[in-house]
Amino acid sequence: MESELLARFPAGFRWGAATAAYQIEGAWDEDGKGESIWDRFSHTPGKIEGGDTGDVACDHYHRWPEDVALMKELNLDAYRFSISWPRLLPMGRGQVNRAGLDYYSRLVDGLLEAGIEPFATLYHWDLPQALQGWGGWPARDTAKAFVEYADLASRTLGDRVKQWMTLNEPQVVAIIGHKHGRHAPGLAEAEKALAAAHHLLLAHGWTVPVLRSNSAGAHAGIAMNMTLMTPASPDEADEAAARRRDGEVNRWFLDPLAGRGYPEDLEEWQRMVEPVVEDGDVEVMATPLDFVGINYYIREVIRSKDAHARQEIFPVKERTEMGWEVYPDGLFEILTRVHADYPFERLYVTENGAAFVDQVGPGNVVDDRRRVAYLQGYLDAAARAIEAGVPLHGYFVWSLMDNFEWAHGFSKRFGLIYVDYRTQERIVKASGRWYGDRG
Ligand code: FCB
Repeated sequence: MESELLARFPAGFRWGAATAAYQIEGAWDEDGKGESIWDRFSHTPGKIEGGDTGDVACDHYHRWPEDVALMKELNLDAYRFSISWPRLLPMGRGQVNRAGLDYYSRLVDGLLEAGIEPFATLYHWDLPQALQGWGGWPARDTAKAFVEYADLASRTLGDRVKQWMTLNEPQVVAIIGHKHGRHAPGLAEAEKALAAAHHLLLAHGWTVPVLRSNSAGAHAGIAMNMTLMTPASPDEADEAAARRRDGEVNRWFLDPLAGRGYPEDLEEWQRMVEPVVEDGDVEVMATPLDFVGINYYIREVIRSKDAHARQEIFPVKERTEMGWEVYPDGLFEILTRVHADYPFERLYVTENGAAFVDQVGPGNVVDDRRRVAYLQGYLDAAARAIEAGVPLHGYFVWSLMDNFEWAHGFSKRFGLIYVDYRTQERIVKASGRWYGDRG
């Protein structure tokens, strides 16, 4: 990394990379692990591009020592990973799978030995299938089961893991999984999506004090996806449409964390969620946090059907393989906006990164210059946010290594490390070398 860029980040800033259990571990039914909704979903024909599944993925469950060694090579200060709920509790609650606990215990020990700080996410989308059978997130009981699971995980690992995230992207879980049906559990019902969202935020709020009591000195947080919503023109109708979309994707999830309850301008959503909100829930969702993580990838340019003003053009200079615009300023805008609008004292970028077509060239070299340029641009934006007063304490590249990209299967490569899925060979890409070179 260029020393001028590096010098703009404060001492103690955490340089990290992120993954999630289902995307890398494989070993989907080994050593007593229960089935998750993502196992079920990926085993359902037609759900995943190319018929891919996470059955083996990067085989990280078996290869984690090699992967921790690579993290060390990349000079990581911190590693964000997720714990698989059905690996600990195969049926979601009740009977404990000791082998699952031991696995994460060994991983955490390995990280600490390598001088890498573990940042654990408790829920990165792999709900035990058994709990789906009882209604999944649209059922309030799932939030109670989550607290039991969080208690078990933090009692076992909390002496060594001090950075905890309850959930990854509750908006995506609720909306993409329950309204759009593109993710597990594949439902398409708006009311259920909002009930799921509510129970996710409730599970989160109930869990924070459990983490603090099981893990002395722990920092408790959550990883939120945010999308920058840019009105296509200054036309009032476009502005209103952008504000509405911002409400659905961002404010509906962040406002409750900040103690504001659900945004009042989304009247239809208010009506839909009302039946599942009980007395005291608003306070629970607002349990004070030690940090909020932002997962940032995209902005949307929003045009209302009713807008008739002049069209403003937002030329897209570059897109990633996901079709997402490369627009580093968006990260600056999101971070400064969160800092201005919300009282969170400590922020992290818990995910940011890009999928490109990577090729292994002569000499086993993966020269992913576009990813290097992407990271340079977004890190410059992060540095500008810090210079503007945003309390940003770390940055995690998505992802440490190429992995199972949900409905896209293995077709999208986000890693700093290339994975050959046939041989499980790992190759550190040019971006990984660049990121790790912080002299
Ligand atoms: C985020 C997910 C992460 C990864 C990236 C590309 O929404 O949290 O698991 O798939 O997108």
